[in-house]
Amino acid sequence: MSQPDAVRLADEVARRRTFAIISHPDAGKTTLTEKLLLFGGAIHLAGEVKAKGERRRARSDWMAIEQKRGISVTTSVMTFDYGGCTFNLLDTPGHEDFSEDTYRTLTAVDSAVMVLDAAKGIEPQTLKLFEVCRLRDVPIMTFINKMDREARDPLEIMDEIESRLALDVAPVNWPIGMGAAFRGVRRLDDGTTLLFSPREDGGIGEEGPLVPTSNSLKDRVPERLMAETEEQLELVRAATKPFDEAGYREGHLSPVYFGSALRTFGIRALLDGLVAHAPPPRPQDAQEGEVMPTDPSVAGFIFKVQANMDPKHRDRVAFMRLCSGKFERGMKLKMVRHAKPLAVSNPIFFFAQDREIADVAFPGDIIGVPNHGQLRVGDALTEGLDLHFKGIPNFAPEILMRLRLGDPMRAKHLKKALEDLAEEGVTQVFRPNIGAEWIVGVVGQLQLDVLKTRLEAEYNLPIDFEGAPYITARWAVAEPKELGRFVEAKRASLATDRDGHPVYLARNAWDLNRVQEDYPKVRFEKTFERA
Ligand code: G4P
Repeated sequence: MSQPDAVRLADEVARRRTFAIISHPDAGKTTLTEKLLLFGGAIHLAGEVKAKGERRRARSDWMAIEQKRGISVTTSVMTFDYGGCTFNLLDTPGHEDFSEDTYRTLTAVDSAVMVLDAAKGIEPQTLKLFEVCRLRDVPIMTFINKMDREARDPLEIMDEIESRLALDVAPVNWPIGMGAAFRGVRRLDDGTTLLFSPREDGGIGEEGPLVPTSNSLKDRVPERLMAETEEQLELVRAATKPFDEAGYREGHLSPVYFGSALRTFGIRALLDGLVAHAPPPRPQDAQEGEVMPTDPSVAGFIFKVQANMDPKHRDRVAFMRLCSGKFERGMKLKMVRHAKPLAVSNPIFFFAQDREIADVAFPGDIIGVPNHGQLRVGDALTEGLDLHFKGIPNFAPEILMRLRLGDPMRAKHLKKALEDLAEEGVTQVFRPNIGAEWIVGVVGQLQLDVLKTRLEAEYNLPIDFEGAPYITARWAVAEPKELGRFVEAKRASLATDRDGHPVYLARNAWDLNRVQEDYPKVRFEKTFERA
């Protein structure tokens, strides 16, 4: 790579911000996303991908599920520029029925924004997604939304984040009132105030920043409210840490912003925070060592595979997170698992204003790689290096179901189909040591619907689900001798995953505790990475 090329690569890396929004349904993720794009500009949704000269994708039954339930099964990639940075926002399905896609998307980001409803604080799904971020110490900024409505005491919310997430908080700004009395936010660092002046059309509802001596501030904020806010700020300063970038980037301190996505208030402050502090593409761990984004040789990993929605064609789009080098259209990359080349002649770029002229991508960017089913989640694509990326785990399923095949004569077909769909990451499949029925495991109900629909539509295999008496699965990991002994003793409660690794199927929490106590040398893993 020539000197100017290396400089360009380093510059492009430094200005990339690849992130996701994590939240509980209804906290305001969609609204916030829209508003981020309002400040940004170019929008490309992966679900709307249309390659050059290609007709719109045929709608399959799978799409019908999406429509019927009014949700997006697919994870979208949205890109926008702001403040000299290029942002890649990886959307995670904002529905209660999330799936492994949601989790895996978080393996492809460098930071996250956690949106909380100010009236509700931390909700169950916030917690789950947070835990996944914590696995990789993903830095998190917090946006406390809906301050234009009656909210909980903000000090109480700070306390809740600290105690429930074991995460230090550093408020960047602090609300002046709430609900009908919401007047704006005051920055902790320079004391300036951003006044809340909502617009009917949802446009930017901010005025300022105003210095503390400003007359309009005095006119607009009642004296008592200002005095109350000052009092609170004293408490906040005493009880929380000042912002420190290292703590944030290491994932143990979260800067907190207050605002209202609906009223377009406080969004700019959040974006400015992301520009100033959110990490650019991080080095990625591989078995062979760290892959630095500025390494000249192209490398990336697949974090999601989406079947082409036309059931007649098994074409797929693999979503690759670029980790190093400058990718150019037409490159031949090596599929490390198969040790075979793949010419990426028609990549899908999500980041260009105009998809059709885009032909380069940089670390942090996401590229859609069309393929015929060779690529699966966790695969590496490189310019030649044999890399195996770490940190793209499977997640312990929370729903386990037995699968009943209408026509028992087609068991072999079912095996093949389940293997295919498991490769794609639709569900996980387990083969119990005892009994002939497959068990499928998912983290969200929606995955089951997709599996049933696709087995029927694409493989002509009508199936039914039947409850399985298990609450969760854990990968059993131990020294070979120890593992052998455990597998022998607990055969009836064990299954194997699609790679033949033993998995313990727990009937209830008590059962899981008990087996952990009985076999202290075996680890029961909630997440599992393939070697
Ligand atoms: P989600 O993607 O996290 O599920 O949340 P979404 O943005 O869809 O927001 C959920 C509801 O909360 C929506 O209202 C939205 O308008 C509202 N909302 C989001 N941000 C704010 C805010 O800052 N202030 C107030 N007051 N409301 C907010 P809805 O009635 O469920 O939907 P809609 O009919 O408005 O679309």
